[in-house]
Amino acid sequence: MSKNYLITTPIYYVNDEPHLGHAFTTLCADVYSRFLKNQKKKVFFLTGTDEHGMKIAEIAKEKGKDIKEFCDEISEKFKKAWKELLIEYDFFVRTTDKYHELAVKKFIEILKKKNQIYQKEYEGLYCVGCEKFLTEKELKNGLCPDHKNKPLRLKEKNYFLKIKDKLPKIKSLIETGKFKIFPEFAKKEALGLLKQNLEDFSISRDKERVKWGIEFQGDKTQLVYVWFDALINYLSAIGFAKNKKKFKKWWEKSFVVHFIGKDILKFHAIFWPAMLLSAKIKIPNQLAVHGFFTVDGQKMSKTLGNVIRPKELIEKFGVDATRYLILSQFPFGEDGDIKISKFTEKYNADLAFGLGNLVLRVLNLAKKQNIRLEKIVAQKSIENKVKKTKNNYQKFLLNFSFFESLKEIWNLIHFCNQYIDKEKPWEKRESSKKVILNLAYCIKEISEMLSPFCPQKSKEIQGQIQGKKLEPLFKKI
Ligand code: MSP
Repeated sequence: MSKNYLITTPIYYVNDEPHLGHAFTTLCADVYSRFLKNQKKKVFFLTGTDEHGMKIAEIAKEKGKDIKEFCDEISEKFKKAWKELLIEYDFFVRTTDKYHELAVKKFIEILKKKNQIYQKEYEGLYCVGCEKFLTEKELKNGLCPDHKNKPLRLKEKNYFLKIKDKLPKIKSLIETGKFKIFPEFAKKEALGLLKQNLEDFSISRDKERVKWGIEFQGDKTQLVYVWFDALINYLSAIGFAKNKKKFKKWWEKSFVVHFIGKDILKFHAIFWPAMLLSAKIKIPNQLAVHGFFTVDGQKMSKTLGNVIRPKELIEKFGVDATRYLILSQFPFGEDGDIKISKFTEKYNADLAFGLGNLVLRVLNLAKKQNIRLEKIVAQKSIENKVKKTKNNYQKFLLNFSFFESLKEIWNLIHFCNQYIDKEKPWEKRESSKKVILNLAYCIKEISEMLSPFCPQKSKEIQGQIQGKKLEPLFKKI
């Protein structure tokens, strides 16, 4: 196992402000990297914003804003949202930053030297919403299935990256697990895409039409295609252009995990490795692909007015509870429906009652009975139970099963709540001290397991165990 980890999120388009979908991916990546950091692994956690392309230029224009100023404004909103959500990233990359432009230019230079790029006339159907070409087959009644608009028919002379000759290699890397794709459905989908006779990858656009992007090396009439530009963020952010040592540490010598939603699988499972193989650069080690969720049965959309912003949830439930509520909805990888009305119910049941009550009851009992908690020793049977929970929790977390690892913690919480009701340690029997110590031990271990998910509450529990004032962790709503 490599010593270093590079953990990334997609870089988000600045055409929209951060919503629950973006928050979900970012949270998963944050929990994963906090978990690895807690295990003393060296981790670099990267997120950022994707700021070029037609879509962004058009929206800035609609709003009557200078494009770069518009990008600055929205990019700042992402930073703010992640701060409020306690996302502990190590670097925030922006594709309008200079080091990024240099990295894109360097990448193209390498491809040119290796004779991997050629020019050709191309005609196709382009969806600005997706920022990609669609095939006739992908359309629904002549419209883009996601954006419900009619794609533009474009005919231009663009630069292409030779990818056809890399496809068999990518297939074998996926099949042999050298390039891991989790979960299985995403791996199958990637292998399915490879069977579709893919064309070479068009990597530039007419400058006249797109207007906003990085100039294509050596051709003033062309801009780098926004997706080609965006994927390079994973390299540019860690020193690809100018810092060889950093790049070596965090790319070449790291276990690289990209967290993505299933909507951008093709770019990450096919085009990205093809770009890297063409440039003779190491490919990522793993893709962690999650499903899409709807809100109250519908796709989140501004027109429907059902877009949920993380801030709204934080205001109502607090940040740690928001993190818990988002990640405990459904298993990573699966599609699901978020029912906001259920959030309050779940908050009260799992957090205010389940966890909060347990901690308060046990620590109150310890205080009343003068039981010191500096060094907590539990009975063997309890230690074993916790050990089993911890093993499962770790196994699940390492495998991106956030939902299941939370379930393990909550099973232990339920066990504790049943144990306390059964043993009634408030009746001060001879066994009470032993029971309270057993429970305090569980709480301490629970707080440690919770730390990547609910970092503040985890610290609060530990502080209360050490004697800080006892207060309810989550107030009932
Ligand atoms: N800019 C590209 C990514 C470039 S990465 C080199 C992009 N940006 S995006 O702003 O559209 O963000 C897409 C990502 O947001 C998805 O892959 C997914 O991670 C997340 N989600 C957006 N909506 C979502 C849901 N409704 N449900 C779950 N995740 C969602 O694509």
